[in-house]
Amino acid sequence: MEPSRWSSVYRDGRDLFTVNAEPGVRVRGEELRVVGGKEYRLWDPFRSKLAAFLANGAPSDLLTAPRAALYLGAAHGTTASYLSDLWPSTEIYAVEKSPIAFVPLLALSRRRANLLPLLADAQLPERYRAEVGEVDFLYQDVAQRDQAGIFRENADACLAPGGRGVLMLKIRSVTQRRAVPVVIREARRTLEAAGFSVAAEVALAPFSRDHAALAVRRD
Ligand SMILES: C[S@@+](CC[C@H](N)C(=O)[O-])C[C@H]1O[C@@H](n2cnc3c(N)ncnc32)[C@H](O)[C@@H]1O
Repeated sequence: MEPSRWSSVYRDGRDLFTVNAEPGVRVRGEELRVVGGKEYRLWDPFRSKLAAFLANGAPSDLLTAPRAALYLGAAHGTTASYLSDLWPSTEIYAVEKSPIAFVPLLALSRRRANLLPLLADAQLPERYRAEVGEVDFLYQDVAQRDQAGIFRENADACLAPGGRGVLMLKIRSVTQRRAVPVVIREARRTLEAAGFSVAAEVALAPFSRDHAALAVRRD
């Protein structure tokens, strides 16, 4: 097990790992491995788009720990659980709209003090901005038509100046018709018009087809 170029992420060959914040507990049936008295949790890029982003070449400062983070579209909490491993002192607000997905997210959050779940619609940030306050990292993975617009509105509501973020863009939720590069260009334009600079744009194939990850910063 060796350190990787991303803070607190380890690798063994091509496999990525985090140190398990809940030793002995699997979040989604993943492999656990004990090395040198520490338990590591396999982070599968086929199951987490953030791991796919790392595997396909995310910038090395991507996972520098923020003070607080807002995660939109947390679902059952698979990827959020890895951020919880990586950022033990960060408040990670995890927004999920589906009451069904929220049940396991809530159970996970009860075991992990840095995960703060919110049953809410990411298209209505005014409903949770007071509770979340100011964050310095925004992560979004929601399959909606106006993904860049949702990201911008949440940034306006909650992201501190100088804040960073990741937009996991699901191309076919934006449109079935326009070509993939056109959809990505439009999303970039929306973000750039809102004051973001795009630090990286990475396709997530073969792990997640039809997705691109955009790492951004707002000065
Ligand atoms: C692809 S899944 C997320 C997977 C998760 N990010 C992970 O990697 O573990 C997308 C999630 O976004 C949620 N979602 C879709 N639209 C949403 C919205 N407007 N507000 C909040 N959550 C939303 C869906 O219910 C679904 O659980």
